[in-house]
Amino acid sequence: MKTAIITGASDGLGKAIAKTLIDSGMKVINISRSKSDVEGIENITCDLSSEKDIEKTIKIIKEKYSNFDVLINNAAIVGYSKLSDLEYEKFEKTWKINTIAPLYLIAKLFDLIVKNEADVINIGTTHSQHAHPGVENQLAYCSTKYGLRGGSYNISNELKKTKSRLIHVYMGGFQSKMHEKDYGNVMTDPENWMKTTDLADIIKYLINLPKQIEISEITINRKGRRG
Ligand SMILES: NC(=O)c1ccc[n+]([C@@H]2O[C@H](COP(=O)([O-])OP(=O)(O)OC[C@H]3O[C@@H](n4cnc5c(N)ncnc54)[C@H](OP(=O)(O)O)[C@@H]3O)[C@@H](O)[C@H]2O)c1
Repeated sequence: MKTAIITGASDGLGKAIAKTLIDSGMKVINISRSKSDVEGIENITCDLSSEKDIEKTIKIIKEKYSNFDVLINNAAIVGYSKLSDLEYEKFEKTWKINTIAPLYLIAKLFDLIVKNEADVINIGTTHSQHAHPGVENQLAYCSTKYGLRGGSYNISNELKKTKSRLIHVYMGGFQSKMHEKDYGNVMTDPENWMKTTDLADIIKYLINLPKQIEISEITINRKGRRG
């Protein structure tokens, strides 16, 4: 049975990916602060902004789940703030969760990734491709996701001579409560946004691509949002 480790599978996209992978016969381990209620999932409780929690999580993975086949770095927050109101602590926390945690997890699990011939998927955003309009007050989000993108390039290079692949996904907007939870912005037109179940099917497809194919970056967006 193939095993996937997913950060942030207690809600939103991560939860949909977890369910889709479990339904396809995979074992899934979630890493988040609250437990995921997806049937059959195993949970590691961890605040990804905490160094202590991350070190504990790495230890658990090495002891209990060292044979994983894919690591999906999905958890993130927006860290919304008007520029002039930006608080150091919130800015730093966004960097910790969105950039440091995923890159540190890859680094510390790197030897296992290579040994297992495991793949890594980093969930980024189209906001780290272009200066899209509509991202006012999201300096933390955009900059941290650019950081993740940069880290993906570096790690892809490190993986070049191995059997492992890293896919960086530039994700467009989808139905989720991420913005509502962060700064109260309720999605009033869900029908205009992508569905997490459709995105989860695409992630499943990417994971199962023949090993001689490498998709290093992919953009998944709402129709008409290119450029
Ligand atoms: N929503 C969009 O339209 C959109 C667009 C492009 C890209 N994305 C990206 O897609 C990914 C998933 O977003 P989403 O909308 O599904 O988000 P979401 O519904 O808010 O879910 C976020 C997940 O991350 C976890 N998380 C948050 N803070 C954490 C922390 N400190 N420690 C551990 N886990 C933490 C949450 O679990 P706990 O709260 O239980 O910790 C939750 O499971 C993110 O990388 C996001 O940047 C989203």
